[in-house]
Amino acid sequence: MQLIDGKATAAQIKQEIAEQVAAIKAAGGKTPHLAAILVGHDGGSETYVAAKVKACAECGFKSTLIRYEADITEQELLAKVQELNNDADVDGFIVQLPLPKHINEQHVIEAIDYRKDVDGFHPINVGRMNIGLPCFVSATPNGIMELLKRYGIDTKGKKAVVLGRSNIVGKPMASLLMQKTNPGDCTVTVCHSHTANIKEECLQADIIVAALGIPGFVKADMVKEGAVIIDVGTTRVPDATKKSGFRLSGDVDFANVPPKCSLITPVPGGVGPMTICSLMKNTLLAGTKAIYE
Ligand code: GUN
Repeated sequence: MQLIDGKATAAQIKQEIAEQVAAIKAAGGKTPHLAAILVGHDGGSETYVAAKVKACAECGFKSTLIRYEADITEQELLAKVQELNNDADVDGFIVQLPLPKHINEQHVIEAIDYRKDVDGFHPINVGRMNIGLPCFVSATPNGIMELLKRYGIDTKGKKAVVLGRSNIVGKPMASLLMQKTNPGDCTVTVCHSHTANIKEECLQADIIVAALGIPGFVKADMVKEGAVIIDVGTTRVPDATKKSGFRLSGDVDFANVPPKCSLITPVPGGVGPMTICSLMKNTLLAGTKAIYE
């Protein structure tokens, strides 16, 4: 069994991005600029947005963090989105999810100019991704594809099981794994809370992507010998030994599953750093107008 080191891979990619940004700046080009809107004080969102701002600095990007209290109205938030759409200095921006319940997330996502939608959540980007056209691809599945590629994992004709059907991970992951690309060319099964016989489905899989948000869901008896396991779970579970009072737990039973598989991503240090790295790649694509305009 080999660990897939997402942290080291992400550091390598950020280094590659920083070199490209330095070359752009040296040639008198524009510094790519990512803006992030954070509403409220959700602990997870605070951590993720802080990590995104830090990664921007590592890549040589300009970043702007825009904060609002949780009682901001949908109208006020939509007005800010319009402002960023029209701000020529901002190449791409994200609205960190989840949003407070009184705000319709879909309204916000669809208000973002798809040419600045570096999260890849706008229906135009989702649609283009599904038919294999250039677009901004959702960061987590894109980061997983990059890991599969950089680790030389053979996916062609393999059976992949995706656990979870969310719009930002499960669905785009399934779509990317079945594309006529390398990595890709998988036969994909998507399992969710209403799937019968999840264990049997998983036992068929050469590759399992676990994105359910249920700590330790994937047990050793659900894994075929030699499978590749990608763990997207990042649930905060109480842990008195940690200064923060919690630790991150993946969707895989990490005490027992690793001996059964050929490759596995740890939590933390697997998919998480790659997700942020993918956002940085999308920001570079937005800054260089490599996809749109
Ligand atoms: N919340 C969880 N993941 C993400 C993400 O990739 N982008 C945004 N904007 N919010 C998230």
